[in-house]
Amino acid sequence: MISKIGVAVAFFMCFDLCISEIYVLDDEVGLGRVFDGIGGLSGGGATSRLLVDYAEPYRSQILDYLFKPQFGASLHILKVEIGGDAQTTDGTEPSHMHYESDTNFFRGYEWWLMKEAKKRNPNITLIGLPWAFPGWVGRGKNWPYEFPDITASYVVSWVVGAKQYHDLDIDYVGIWNERSFDSNYIKVLRNTLDKIGLTGVGIIAADGNWDVSKDMDVDPYLKDAVEVIGAHYPGTTTIAEALKSQKTLWSSEDYSTFNDPVGGGCWARILNQNYVNGHMTATISWNLVASYYEDLPFGRDGLMTAEEPWSGNYVVESPIWITAHTTQFSQPGWTYLKTVGHLTHGGSYVALTDSEGNLTVVIETMTHDHSVCIRPPLPAFSVTPQNVSFKLNGSFASIRELQLWQSKFDFKRQKHVFFKKLSPIKISNGSFSLSLDVDEVYTLTTINTGQKGSYPDPPPSAPFPKIYKDDFNIANPPFSEAPYFADQTGVFEYNMNLTDPGPHVFTLRQVVTQMPVTWTMDADQTISVIGDYNWQNLTVTCDVFMESVKTGGVFIAARVDKGGQDVRGAKGVFFWVFADGSYKVTNDLVGSTVLAKGLSGTGAYSWYTLSLTVQGQYATGMVNGEQLWKNDVVLGQNNGWAAIGTNSFELAQFDNFVIEVK
Ligand SMILES: *[C@@H]1O[C@H](CO)[C@@H](O)[C@H](O)[C@H]1NC(C)=O
Ligand SMILES: *[C@@H]1O[C@H](CO)[C@@H](O)[C@H](O)[C@H]1NC(C)=O
Ligand SMILES: *[C@@H]1O[C@H](CO)[C@@H](O)[C@H](O)[C@H]1NC(C)=O
Ligand SMILES: *[C@@H]1O[C@H](CO)[C@@H](O)[C@H](O)[C@H]1NC(C)=O
Ligand SMILES: *[C@@H]1O[C@H](CO)[C@@H](O)[C@H](O)[C@H]1NC(C)=O
Ligand SMILES: *[C@@H]1O[C@H](CO)[C@@H](O)[C@H](O)[C@H]1NC(C)=O
Ligand SMILES: *[C@@H]1O[C@H](CO)[C@@H](O)[C@H](O)[C@H]1NC(C)=O
Repeated sequence: MISKIGVAVAFFMCFDLCISEIYVLDDEVGLGRVFDGIGGLSGGGATSRLLVDYAEPYRSQILDYLFKPQFGASLHILKVEIGGDAQTTDGTEPSHMHYESDTNFFRGYEWWLMKEAKKRNPNITLIGLPWAFPGWVGRGKNWPYEFPDITASYVVSWVVGAKQYHDLDIDYVGIWNERSFDSNYIKVLRNTLDKIGLTGVGIIAADGNWDVSKDMDVDPYLKDAVEVIGAHYPGTTTIAEALKSQKTLWSSEDYSTFNDPVGGGCWARILNQNYVNGHMTATISWNLVASYYEDLPFGRDGLMTAEEPWSGNYVVESPIWITAHTTQFSQPGWTYLKTVGHLTHGGSYVALTDSEGNLTVVIETMTHDHSVCIRPPLPAFSVTPQNVSFKLNGSFASIRELQLWQSKFDFKRQKHVFFKKLSPIKISNGSFSLSLDVDEVYTLTTINTGQKGSYPDPPPSAPFPKIYKDDFNIANPPFSEAPYFADQTGVFEYNMNLTDPGPHVFTLRQVVTQMPVTWTMDADQTISVIGDYNWQNLTVTCDVFMESVKTGGVFIAARVDKGGQDVRGAKGVFFWVFADGSYKVTNDLVGSTVLAKGLSGTGAYSWYTLSLTVQGQYATGMVNGEQLWKNDVVLGQNNGWAAIGTNSFELAQFDNFVIEVK
């Protein structure tokens, strides 16, 4: 169906001078698939965590670079995680139902992000996908399909809440990110949506490999239930069963590559070739924006970087402008031409048209080494400079001029030019020619509204402040999470206790009381990290309040070296107190390397001020100003974030958090 070299390509020899290939762009031979757009994924997990903490105007500027039409990436799709209270790569995202009897549609930042995106582009497609589920959904099992009605109702309640509380129409929901799918569950989910009239909400399955298409082949009810087959990191190809299904095919998660110019090259190559090779009509980047501490897993694997809310600094990286090559000149609902394909000397071209006869052509000539993505492995191929001619046939024969936009990677001199408007190309005798170098991206289009949006430079990069305090005294916090805290297991939320007579009316509270249905290895303890990964010598002080009488335990920590999906292996200096009146100091989160221990006099339902000072190879700890141990602890871990947390999935509160870095 899609022409390969030779089918629609004629070879014109000019003998001793050159070889120029002619590629025909024609709509009379029929059209290809309908284009569904290019998107970004917030979540999976907590990848937009730091974005919400940016001050204006920087936060709005970042959002404009992502979503504002005709400005930057001008994204067509926003996919978000349906928070499940569990670790999902770079942090946890809160569920709208921590407990079965609980509903709250104002937690986390995904609601806010969807509204901000919609404000800028009312046509943006919205998708929700769970990575994990609160423990009650699994009824004690680490598996979401045991009780399909419960899981489906839980997911559908998220869709309903989006409309009821935020006026957001969710267009698609998924199953369980990159985990087993269950055909029965997919059908139950379809029924649950249909029963309450949400027939327009499509199901994407199964956000892993293409295997669901094999099951669809032998199960017509499953096939009916699924609207889009979404595969992750497909390496631009699909399988025969997926094609045979005639279903819409998407790369529903892709990219995940460090956002330097090679990352931009990866993105350019797959945006074209996911269609050319794999007939995929949407590609979604994990992640939308790298807004998480860079030392968490997959640092800077977003379309742009916004990881310093304390300074206001952010970086518009090359993937933003590579995205613009397609998004600013075509919209969901446009149609790919059948005449798309590979260029003879490497690279690819796609062409799209709308119902009014507009034409957009995107050409990329990314070389292998300058377009490697994180996965899957990229087989060898060669790209060399080439002269190409495009012949405009069918309804495009009357086009006289095309707008021309160029990105030119220059890895030799590290002087890259992204999304530059060049002089329009005149069409003579129904065709145009281009001299293509390697590592270039071109858009040729009848649309004349493109813009390389810009704002004045943001403030310069700066480290996390050396003195930082938070008393959590906010009556109506804009988000459920306190600034800069990045939950790695459990969920830490602003809490208000109006019956408290003293200074602890407003606190931060860990609220997850049961191991969730996990996506990766959550720790058995809860932990939220904050600050600068390079910190060595500092004092962390925090008021703590245990709510578990027998088993309660809380900690404050410094030099915490791991989070994300590696959180179980976190090392650092952890100072714990327990409801049974004891304390301990450990070198790791699991608490196996005990450096010191003894009596603390601590118990549940009282406030204590803990203080931990680390300096060089030594640490000192205090409870309510009284030293428990001093300078007798040899530390193994040299640097890392500060942290707070609990000994298990238990309720506990924190207040008057202070960091002083030496
Ligand atoms: C949204 O889509 C409609 C219909 O396709 C179009 O007329 C309108 O311009 C679009 N709005 C934006 C902001 O792109
Ligand atoms: C292309 O789209 C523009 C609006 O963006 C429209 O004015 C124009 O008529 C369309 N058709 C062609 C052939 O350019
Ligand atoms: C492209 O064409 C020009 C002449 O128009 C020629 O000088 C050049 O060598 C050609 N490049 C290639 C790669 O064939
Ligand atoms: C292009 O269109 C012309 C006339 O419409 C036709 O003769 C020619 O075969 C077409 N070329 C290709 C390669 O389809
Ligand atoms: C115009 O293109 C046709 C083929 O599409 C070719 O036969 C003809 O010689 C060209 N005319 C000129 C002036 O280049
Ligand atoms: C609220 O404050 C009161 C009075 O100090 C205390 O007894 C109670 O345990 C607190 N509840 C919570 C959930 O913090
Ligand atoms: C931390 O303290 C130790 C010992 O006092 C010192 O050697 C080290 O340079 C300090 N680190 C920083 C980042 O200041």
